[in-house]
Amino acid sequence: NAASKNGYPFFMEKEIAEQPKAIKDTIEARITDDIVDFSKDGIPEEVFKNFQRLYFIGCGTAMHSGLVGKSLLQQFAGAYSNVEIASEFIYDNPVLDENTLVIAISQSGETIDTLEAVKMAKKMKATTISIINVRESSIAKASDYVIYTNAGPEIAVASTKAYSVQVAVMYLLTVQIAMINGKMTLEEGKAFIKKLRKIPDVVEEAVKNRETIHNISRKIIEAKDLFMLGRGLDYSAILEGSLKLKEISYIHSEAYSSGEIKHGTIALITQDTPVIAVVTQNKLASKELSNAIEVRSRGAKVILFVKDGIKLENEEEWYEVVRLRDVSDEFMIFPVTVALQLLAYYTSLDKGLDVDKPRNLAKVVTVE
Ligand code: G6P
Repeated sequence: NAASKNGYPFFMEKEIAEQPKAIKDTIEARITDDIVDFSKDGIPEEVFKNFQRLYFIGCGTAMHSGLVGKSLLQQFAGAYSNVEIASEFIYDNPVLDENTLVIAISQSGETIDTLEAVKMAKKMKATTISIINVRESSIAKASDYVIYTNAGPEIAVASTKAYSVQVAVMYLLTVQIAMINGKMTLEEGKAFIKKLRKIPDVVEEAVKNRETIHNISRKIIEAKDLFMLGRGLDYSAILEGSLKLKEISYIHSEAYSSGEIKHGTIALITQDTPVIAVVTQNKLASKELSNAIEVRSRGAKVILFVKDGIKLENEEEWYEVVRLRDVSDEFMIFPVTVALQLLAYYTSLDKGLDVDKPRNLAKVVTVE
């Protein structure tokens, strides 16, 4: 039964372990003949063609999944979108009209800021699609169309499986938008989906790698401040990974784009500052590594989360190196996400904290 921990000490660990199935169920529900099919959600294809502007909106973790969507759409569909924090969007005079597509993302479907944003978008004649985990929730009801994610109930306050399935939907949307706008051929779309369908196995393997990550968590458990670095999709991944760590371990963690750190934040790097550098993008690896070397040379203890297959020179100079399963760049977000979820989880667990119910946080936020 969904509300029991099934032998796990905390719901969060159970929910991390449930990700392969959650992702599989979410993807497979929208595939017909090896290609994306949102008609199963009652969404006509034209919705993905006839827009001039696209906004992803959400709060917290849900908003982070939109960042992945934005990158994927640029790379594979040649489509520009914006990712907006729902509470900012509402008061920022967004450009909304009948040519605007608003994609709202929410696990609970009840977050008030996201709900208000959807209502506003509808009032101004935009088309609204929501990506929601909880059936028949307020945001689902307020939207023109709903893509339900199939994560099952998520109990732990810190979101894990709900994020992974939101991210999985971003890949489906990317293929749909790319194909309908002539940016991907049927063959290319099928090849992309074929890779996506292998992700549940990749995630399964990442979950099994828990003891490696547990060992890393022992190295950061005493930290007061910690920095995470990454570029491109690695940057999106660390924004979420850093939030996870903050939420449940209470370690002050900041995610910075590796290229941006020298514009200020590097001033905070002193002897022994823990830094987690995520390096999984082949085309960015040499840049990501040289940024990590910059902080290492200022005394930081750099823990590298690196894609297997990216060659490291003088590996022994890093404080720790964690190898992640090698999949193509655009899918690395999945193994990275699981590793950073486990890192937060074990840090919180070993600190003896209430992993599932961190202080000051609520699973569903219904106040503005
Ligand atoms: C709360 C939760 C977060 C979540 C955010 C948005 O702050 O603690 O984990 O990301 O709300 O929630 P939603 O249900 O809209 O995804």
